[in-house]
Amino acid sequence: MLSEKTVEKIKRTTTCYPDKGSACMSALRIAQLDDPENQLTEDALRQIANMLDMPPVKVNEVAAFYTMYNVERPVGKYHIQVCANISCSLLGVEHIISRIENILDIKVGETTKDKKFTLSTVECLGSCGTAPMMQINQDYYENLTGEGVEEILKSLE
Ligand code: FES
Repeated sequence: MLSEKTVEKIKRTTTCYPDKGSACMSALRIAQLDDPENQLTEDALRQIANMLDMPPVKVNEVAAFYTMYNVERPVGKYHIQVCANISCSLLGVEHIISRIENILDIKVGETTKDKKFTLSTVECLGSCGTAPMMQINQDYYENLTGEGVEEILKSLE
């Protein structure tokens, strides 16, 4: 269930678009950021569809297509999304992923017991020139090295 504050934010954002449906991605982003577990529940998706006068299946399709939306999957405070596509692979991203798995003691797709970190792999994040790279919440971390990754994770509270 979306909070009143979230509903208000979504209503406000719809005024910036020529029609309500065009605000779909913004609405999903707002709802996810406001969710304590950083996810989009089935209930939230249905509510957004109602608010935007869209068929629920259309909203579900948008949410399911983009990896930035966490549909029915709670994620930790920090969602680590490591690009596993071609440029990052060629520049050794497997080593980076293994390093993160070892440091956090989780595998890809899992969340640490304290719910601080979730590790995912994603397709190209459009930063191939600075591969290997990852995104943690809204921030990009590029030209990754094993040592650098350790420092980055330590710096997150
Ligand atoms: S292949 Fe990793 S950012 Fe493009």
